[in-house]
This record gives sequence, C-alpha cells and structure tokens, in this order.
Amino acid sequence: MFTHKRADFGPDFIFGVAMAAHQIEGGQTDGRGPSIWDTFANTPGNTRNFDNGNVACDHYNRWGEDLDIIRDGGFDAYRFSFSWSRLMPEGTIAINQAGVDFYDRLIDGMLERNIKPLATLYHWDLPSALQDRGGWMNRDTTAAFADYAAFAAEKFGSRLESIATFNEPWCITVLSHFLGAHAPGYRDVRATARAMHHVLLAHGLGIKAMREVGTNKNLGIVVNMEKCDPASDKPEDIEAAALGDAIFNQFFLDGVLKGTYPEKVTNILEPHLPKDWRDDMATLNQPLDWVGINYYTRFLYTADPKVPVFPFTQARGPLEKTNVGWEIIPEALTEFLVRVSNRYPGLPIYVTENGASETDEAKRINFFDRHFAAMVEAKRHGVDLRGYIAWTLIDNFEWAEGFTPKFGIVGMDPVTLDRHPKDSYRAFQQMLVK
Ligand code: FCB
Repeated sequence: MFTHKRADFGPDFIFGVAMAAHQIEGGQTDGRGPSIWDTFANTPGNTRNFDNGNVACDHYNRWGEDLDIIRDGGFDAYRFSFSWSRLMPEGTIAINQAGVDFYDRLIDGMLERNIKPLATLYHWDLPSALQDRGGWMNRDTTAAFADYAAFAAEKFGSRLESIATFNEPWCITVLSHFLGAHAPGYRDVRATARAMHHVLLAHGLGIKAMREVGTNKNLGIVVNMEKCDPASDKPEDIEAAALGDAIFNQFFLDGVLKGTYPEKVTNILEPHLPKDWRDDMATLNQPLDWVGINYYTRFLYTADPKVPVFPFTQARGPLEKTNVGWEIIPEALTEFLVRVSNRYPGLPIYVTENGASETDEAKRINFFDRHFAAMVEAKRHGVDLRGYIAWTLIDNFEWAEGFTPKFGIVGMDPVTLDRHPKDSYRAFQQMLVK
C-alpha cells in the first residue's frame, strides 16, 4: 500500500488515470477512418511481435465497464483522447456520427459516475488522409487541426473539465520523424523540423479556434520531459546533455509559452524549418490555462561529432530500472515541476502521466509512492500542482512495443479481454476512496 494519503496533496488535488484512443479503443469499423497508427502497426517490422491496435482493449465496446473500474478505484478524473479519424474519417469536414455518439456516451458515462473528463485532441493517431498530403510536414494540417479542435470543442466542450491540444510534441515529431520509431516512421531532418514547428502552430491555431467557438476554460497542452544528464564530466558531454535538454525540455514549452525557440536548436534546424517560421511565433504563444507534464525517466548523453544533426548518442544509466529499462529517478520530477513553475510563472501544472511497466506489483506501488513524495516536495517549493494522472488504467497497446510492456494498474486477459485489477489498483483505491 502507499505511504501517502489524499490529504498530503491538499483539498482540491485531483487523481486520475490516463489512456489514449489508439492504445485501447479497437472498434475500427463503425465509420472510423484509418489513422497513421493503423498502417504503421500493420506493416511488418514496426512493432514488437507484429502487435497492433486493431482490437486493443476493445474499450469501444467495454467503456462502461472501464468507467466503473475508474469510479470504483476512487479516481476523480479520466484523461482520454479523441480519435480524430473516428470523428472525421478523412481528417476534415465530413463527420462520422457513430464516432460522435461514442464520445457522447463516454463523456456522459463519466459525468454520471462523477468522473471528470480530461480530453486530449491528439494522442498520435493522425488521420491517414492527412498523412497522404504530407501530415505534419504540410502546413495545411495545422488548419485542419484547428477545424477539428473547434468541432470537438463545440460538440463536447461544455461537458469537459479540460482540453489538451497535443500529447507529447517530442514524440509526435522527433521520435516519429527523426528516429523513425513511431508512425509515420520517418528518419528525415527536414520532415522533423517542419513537424516540430507545424505541431506547435497547430496548437496555437487550435487554442484560438476553441476560444472563438466559446470554449474558453481549461485549455492546455501536455509535454513529456525527460532528464538529460551527461554521461561523464567532460565538457563536450555536458554540452551534449544541454543540447538534449534544449530539444526535449525547452523547445516545445518555450515555443508555446514564450513564443521563442532555444537558439541551440534553431542554429541546427534553421535550414530545415519553414522559411518564415518566426512570423508564426506569436500565434504559437496563446495564453493557456494549464500545462501538463508527463514524466518517466532520463537519458545519458555522450558527445559524438560523427553523428549528423544532433551530435550525440544517448544511453540508459546504471540506476534501478523498470522492466522496459527506464531508470527510476523521482527527484527529477520535483526538479521539472519546480523548473516549469519558475520558468512559466502563473500556470497551474498537472502531472498528466507517470507510471512504470512492471510485473512486480510491489515495485509498481513503490514507484508511484516515490513519485508522490516528489510531488509533495515540489508543492513544498511552492509549485501550483493541481493533480496527478497515473499511466495507465489497463495494460494496453504500447505503440512500437506492442502488448509486451505492462503499465496498467489493471491487467487484461489477452484472449477474453477480461479486466483484472492488480495490487496497485487496490493501493490507489485505499488511498483515494473517500
Ligand atoms: C507516453 C505516452 C503514452 C504511453 C506512455 C508509456 O510517452 O504518452 O501513450 O505510451 O508513454
């Protein structure tokens, strides 16, 4: 069980769980258009064991049972994402009514159970029809996103507790267009630079569009932060880690919250960025109501001048790890919370994801508990921290790693898809049930 109690976090602090559409929904019939994750995962070599999200956790049909599990765990909120191509199969204009009906049921189901709906518009599943026209490399996708944001806000906004435009711009751009590990699987610096800028421009346009249709509260964005440490105390490794930090932890937040990009990064990417990117910076920099931080682990950086573009290599360090090899460093969560609170003052902060892939429940419980302590510490430093959303409720389709990782506090039988609460679920229940 946890050593923490609800009261340690203050009276209005919310606890929730997060899942994302493509990782859980399945239900790909019923008018849903294809997304880049459908074709990426169904192409050999892109995912472990050829796993895909075709059925996933069948949340499309079992959402009611899943909401019951969230309610019974004592959680205040469910952070979910809309599948863009379920609402708009071609990414623009035409609406799939069955998709609208699904999210109506899901959101109403949360409200009936007293669960706050925290929505994300984009958790990585770009409609394929937009990818056909260049996806995030194409500036037109930013306007399509703004239209989609306005549509979702008009339809669902009044029932949502909050809306995030994007989940983890670093993964959408660098991981997916530079490292090739996620859909659409590019390894191309020009594609990356354009995607980095266009995703943030889409964020700015999306926020504006939502405010224009009258959805004016609790709009934000979710970024992932990862600790970047030098592999040695050599000055070139220290510089490599600083560049890693600028790419990972500054580019996206500074872009949207300050309207600037770190020079360390633009010095490198300038030739590949859209020519007039500076003209867009005021649009990126819309006032936000909150920011979400997803935090898991760190990388160690070693300078390597042979590596083009970003001249370093990254490796995992020697500390205790979860079963996907991610080092456990709760102090870095405190560090990031304090840093974001100091650098972008006045903005409420949520931890929107944090969790561990584990089969040993004692370890998972300990992982959460140590990160709770890190949050208490951040609050002691004056951070305006409003909530903690655990990743994740049910073991699900973990992208390129397929179903191998086990991030869930609830397990799932691979054949029957029955849900099985784990000890960590019961630990939350014990801590949270009022
Ligand atoms: C985050 C993603 C989430 C899940 C966790 C483990 O980067 O937002 O969908 O994959 O990692």
